[in-house]
Amino acid sequence: MSAILKIDNLKAAYGGIHALRGVSLQVEEGEIVSVLGANGAGKSTLLKCISAVMKRTDGTIEFMGKPIPSKPHEIVEAGLVQVPEARQIFAKLTVMENLRVGVGNRKDVEGIKRDYERVFTMFPRLKEREKQYGGLLSGGEQQMLAIARGIMANPKLMMFDEPSLGLAPVIVTQMFEIIKEINDEGCSILLVEQNANKALQISDHAYIMQTGEVVRYGTGAELLADDTLSAAYLGN
Ligand SMILES: Nc1ncnc2c1ncn2[C@@H]1O[C@H](COP(=O)(O)OP(=O)(O)O)[C@@H](O)[C@H]1O
Ligand SMILES: [Mg+2]
Repeated sequence: MSAILKIDNLKAAYGGIHALRGVSLQVEEGEIVSVLGANGAGKSTLLKCISAVMKRTDGTIEFMGKPIPSKPHEIVEAGLVQVPEARQIFAKLTVMENLRVGVGNRKDVEGIKRDYERVFTMFPRLKEREKQYGGLLSGGEQQMLAIARGIMANPKLMMFDEPSLGLAPVIVTQMFEIIKEINDEGCSILLVEQNANKALQISDHAYIMQTGEVVRYGTGAELLADDTLSAAYLGN
């Protein structure tokens, strides 16, 4: 196995607030890796630094064995896609138009066609609603669309920031199944979650963050079995 994502000593700040204090983490090719931690631990900041929508002040990030590109669109083109928090789909574009945004600058016509088929098989609901405006979809459908849009970029690694947030329990279960399915199809996953239990159940490895630092690391099974975890670090 080799690391698809390798982060070393990553630091970032908002003015005087040190949100990341030297985070090291890696995702092996084909893995689902979760990052867990209470509110304010630095999880979203970590993803923002990886996606280069926020500048790091120190540390290195390697993607597929090379320094990660410096511009967000170059990172997407290299194969690393973040499904945004709060499901920032375009309300005034249709489902189909939203998916087309995900395609970006891809030129592999056959691959694009295959990926449309793939997302419509994965999300039959989106096929039914392909001409519907994004803003008229339910919360769960909007989250599906955000994921489908990410898939249309043909990523090697997908990052999720709290994909289960605010969704009904039955949709949450479906969401985790879909993440597992995307992974089974060969895409590595970096998953930020508050729902530690569900995340650990599908994770190969997980990191626990607290105030900008990694405080625990283990396999999903190890951390699931540790019942001191949630009280100590997850704010439950
Ligand atoms: N835009 C911002 N401006 C100032 N401080 C921020 C901003 N976003 C996050 N922070 C602070 O950075 C720290 C980490 O936040 P964040 O990465 O959002 O944590 P998490 O996603 O784990 O809840 C927190 O102390 C938070 O208050
Ligand atoms: Mg967050």
